[in-house]
Amino acid sequence: MDTVSLVTGGNRGIGKEVCRQLAALGHTVILTARSRSAAAAAARETGAEPLELDVTDQRAITTAVRRVDERYGRLDVLVNNAAITYDTWQTAVTADLATVREAAETNLYGPWLMVQEFLPLLRRSHHGRIVNVSSEAASLTHMGGGTPAYTASKTALNALTRMLAAELRASNILVNAICPGWVATDMGGAGGRPVADGTAGIVWAATLPDDGPTGGFFRDGNPLEW
Ligand SMILES: NC(=O)c1ccc[n+]([C@@H]2O[C@H](COP(=O)([O-])OP(=O)(O)OC[C@H]3O[C@@H](n4cnc5c(N)ncnc54)[C@H](OP(=O)(O)O)[C@@H]3O)[C@@H](O)[C@H]2O)c1
Repeated sequence: MDTVSLVTGGNRGIGKEVCRQLAALGHTVILTARSRSAAAAAARETGAEPLELDVTDQRAITTAVRRVDERYGRLDVLVNNAAITYDTWQTAVTADLATVREAAETNLYGPWLMVQEFLPLLRRSHHGRIVNVSSEAASLTHMGGGTPAYTASKTALNALTRMLAAELRASNILVNAICPGWVATDMGGAGGRPVADGTAGIVWAATLPDDGPTGGFFRDGNPLEW
C-alpha cells in the first residue's frame, strides 16, 4: 500500500521541498497551504495533491481530516512544517506579547491541533510518523537572547514532541522534532544551505523504520541537545 503523507505549509520553502522529496519516494503526498491557489500551483510542481489548510483554523482542519478520511481512510505521515515570525527585531525584554501569542497560534497550537484532529487517521496507519519541524534555536542548552516569539514557540513545540512521543509510543507512532539547519528560504534568507539539504533530515524522520527513534531532536539524522 502507498504511504499517505500530509505536509503543512507546502506551497513554498522547505515544506514544498518535503512534498517533492516524499513524492519522489513514491508517497501519496497531500500538499496543504492556506491559499488554495498556492496549494494547487505547488502541487502541480511537486507531484502532490493540493488541499487548502490554515493550521490556525480549527474548522479547516476538521474539513481536511474528513477529506483525507474519505479519500484514503488513514494517514501515515504528518509533517508539521508551517511556521511564522522569526522575530529578529525583538528581544524577550521588550517583546510585543501579541506577536508572541500570534506566533504560538501557528507554531505550537497549529501542530498540536493537527495531531489531535488527525490522530484517528494516524492510528489507522501501521507506521504512523509525526515530524515537528523545529529549530536549534529551541535548544535550552545553547539558548541565548533574541527571536523570543519564535524561540518560545519552538521550545514549546519540542516539549509537545516529547509528550506526544511518550503517549503514542504504544501505538507505533513515532514523533520527532527536526531542525533543518539554516536554510535559504524566505524565512532563512540568503546565505543558508540549499533547501534540498535542509529538507533531507525531515524526510529521514518521515520515513523511519518501525524500530526508529521517537521523542528525539535531530538535524541531518544526528541528535541535537534539547
Ligand atoms: N529556513 C530556515 O533557516 C529554518 C531554520 C530552522 C527551522 N526552520 C523551520 O522550517 C519550517 C519551514 O520554514 P521555511 O524556511 O520553509 O519558511 P517559509 O519559507 O517562511 O515558509 C513558511 C510556510 O509556512 C506557511 N504558513 C505560515 N502560516 C501558516 C498557517 N497558519 N497555515 C498554513 N501554512 C502556514 C507559509 O504559507 P504562506 O505562503 O501562505 O505564508 C509557508 O508555506 C518552519 O517550521 C521553520 O520554523 C527554518
